Amino acid sequence: MAQTYQITVDPIGAEITCREDQTILDACLRAGVWVPHCCTHGTCGTCKVEVLDGEVDHGASSAFALMDIERDEGKTLLCCATPRSDVVFEADIDADDEAPAHAVEDYAGTIVSIEEVAVDTRRVVVELDRDITFDAGQYMAWQIPAARVGGAAGVTRTYSMANAPSERRRLEFQIRRTSGGVCSDGWVFGDLAVGERVSLAGPYGRFTVRMGRRDPAVMIAGGTGLAPIASMIKRVLQDGADDAGRPGPSKILLYQGARSRAALYDVEEFRALAERHPERFVYRPCLSEEEVTPELAVQAYAAGLVTDVVAGDHTSLAGHVAYLCGPPAMVEAAMKTLMSRRLFPRDIRREEFLDESNRHGGGLRSPLIKR
Ligand SMILES: Cc1cc2nc3c(=O)[nH]c(=O)nc-3n(C[C@H](O)[C@H](O)[C@H](O)COP(=O)(O)OP(=O)(O)OC[C@H]3O[C@@H](n4cnc5c(N)ncnc54)[C@H](O)[C@@H]3O)c2cc1C
Ligand code: FES
Repeated sequence: MAQTYQITVDPIGAEITCREDQTILDACLRAGVWVPHCCTHGTCGTCKVEVLDGEVDHGASSAFALMDIERDEGKTLLCCATPRSDVVFEADIDADDEAPAHAVEDYAGTIVSIEEVAVDTRRVVVELDRDITFDAGQYMAWQIPAARVGGAAGVTRTYSMANAPSERRRLEFQIRRTSGGVCSDGWVFGDLAVGERVSLAGPYGRFTVRMGRRDPAVMIAGGTGLAPIASMIKRVLQDGADDAGRPGPSKILLYQGARSRAALYDVEEFRALAERHPERFVYRPCLSEEEVTPELAVQAYAAGLVTDVVAGDHTSLAGHVAYLCGPPAMVEAAMKTLMSRRLFPRDIRREEFLDESNRHGGGLRSPLIKR
């Protein structure tokens, strides 16, 4: 049996037990103790904490997210660190009353549909064996079958739920093919089939819609970055007020970016939502490499990079909250655009779809992005 250690979380004083082969983040989230995290794969640096007492193994932390000097200073990444003794660490837990509160658990499910929705993009629906609770915008870690990764156990990839949280058994994922990728290219776009059993863990992440903020929201999605944003939109417009009676943003502006219409999906669904909620939802599909004819312009299509369209539509976004999701380069460009339109970083939530190339290549240290 694996050795266990006691972990103390400062400043909240929570005490949990962690196995020597378990990451400290995993132990915290499974015990219902929420600590900051984002990618869960040692890349973004969001889960960086200071170890006040005890020894940890830094595991697979990337040299970019946790530099040598930081290791020497006693810092560690909770999503990679495993304990080698009892540990006390100090986390920067802000008093955000809207931090997700659902404990991470393991789930099993069956693939019930796989649909080609756009170029290199699939909608995959999983029927879980039991209910899950999650906040709109959170994601699951998919366990990749060991046989596909040379027999290695515990290799995971993360995908965001695109459905409303009121659907507790049926989870929708929108997955983009990454050329040469183990999970997407090798499995989801390979021989993953309806009826196949899958193992998932979650829910993870803090990219969630703030139901307590009435301010209008601008949401910017690139590619399958639409998935968590679609969940948020459904949360607000379909599920309605939360248990505390909070209705969420007073208005939502969705900017969905893609190169061409062949790469855009769910356009009709969002257009129908905009017709149903004309006061509350505005939809702007943006095409960066396809001409927007007068006929397309009438249908609300805009020409250009999604960030340029946002900049052209607004001289000021003061008083808004923003949600950004997609490839890291798009998220950073959108940060710059929003800040130039008078939004502060504290009013911008973002999720970057980081992958293995980011973990090994670094380049994620934008001064705009506080980790
Ligand atoms: C919080 C979060 C939520 C996400 N949600 C979604 C979602 O809803 N939908 C979605 O489509 N994606 C999502 N992603 C991205 C997703 O998790 C995967 O990263 C993506 O699908 C690629 O996985 P893969 O196994 O196919 O590719 P990987 O095997 O991870 O490879 C990715 C790329 O890195 C390269 N690579 C691999 N190893 C190395 C190395 N050692 N050095 C340099 N390059 C290397 C590969 O050639 C490939 O080009 C999310 C990511 C995060 C962090
Ligand atoms: S959550 Fe640990 S590095 Fe991203």
